[in-house]
Amino acid sequence: MAKYGTSASPSPSRVLLRQLFEKESSTYTYLLADLAHPDKPAVLVDPVDRTVDRDISLVKELGLKLIYAVNTHVHADHVTGTGLIKKKMPEVKSVISKVSNAKADHVVEHGDKIYFGDLFLEVRATPGHTQGCVTYVTGNGPDQPYPRMAFTGDALLIHGCGRTDFQAGNSRQLYQSVHSQIFTLPKETLIYPAHDYKGFTVSTVGEEMLYNPRLTKDEEAFKSIMENLKLDYPKMMDVAVPANMVCGLQDLPTKA
Ligand SMILES: [Fe+2]
Repeated sequence: MAKYGTSASPSPSRVLLRQLFEKESSTYTYLLADLAHPDKPAVLVDPVDRTVDRDISLVKELGLKLIYAVNTHVHADHVTGTGLIKKKMPEVKSVISKVSNAKADHVVEHGDKIYFGDLFLEVRATPGHTQGCVTYVTGNGPDQPYPRMAFTGDALLIHGCGRTDFQAGNSRQLYQSVHSQIFTLPKETLIYPAHDYKGFTVSTVGEEMLYNPRLTKDEEAFKSIMENLKLDYPKMMDVAVPANMVCGLQDLPTKA
């Protein structure tokens, strides 16, 4: 009997992935879980405060045990859902990079692994949009998802990238991050960004290496593009950044 499809995954149904959208900020939140583990442990990547109830309902409906709410970086355009999730589900631990200087239950560094069941996310430092940006990449190995998936935050968007003109952004650093940490992944690796404004949902490393209009240029041309974007100051920045530095819990006591 003929076989159809191109998946070579040894365990195609082990990983659960849901891509969720928040329309005010055009943010993608990702729900990942290890369905082969008896507890079905799960991770949320980049939850948004406005859609926390939706996300928690889905976690419950799917019978998952949410263990981590992780952020790719300190967002400037929306308030993270991490703080609200922790209020409603105190057992959930928040995660962000150490370099971001934000507060969280766990701070991670380049090379760390975040396990959920027998699956894991590898932390890759991809600064440049902000100093603390990381990309979370699913594991490499026989029991890990194939193709691998890279949750790139704003470091690499589909046919685009995050701006580099605030939050200690640096266009040369972003160029080097993407080329050294993302474009070195296998070409079939799936790219799942934190935002999309054009209707794209997923890309691959190979597709971005060919068609990303900014990152296919050389470093000088990339720097010039990024310096001439003339973008507006983000509407939410003055609210979002302070809230996200304390995990979305705006009412946490702050030190004098
Ligand atoms: Fe961002």
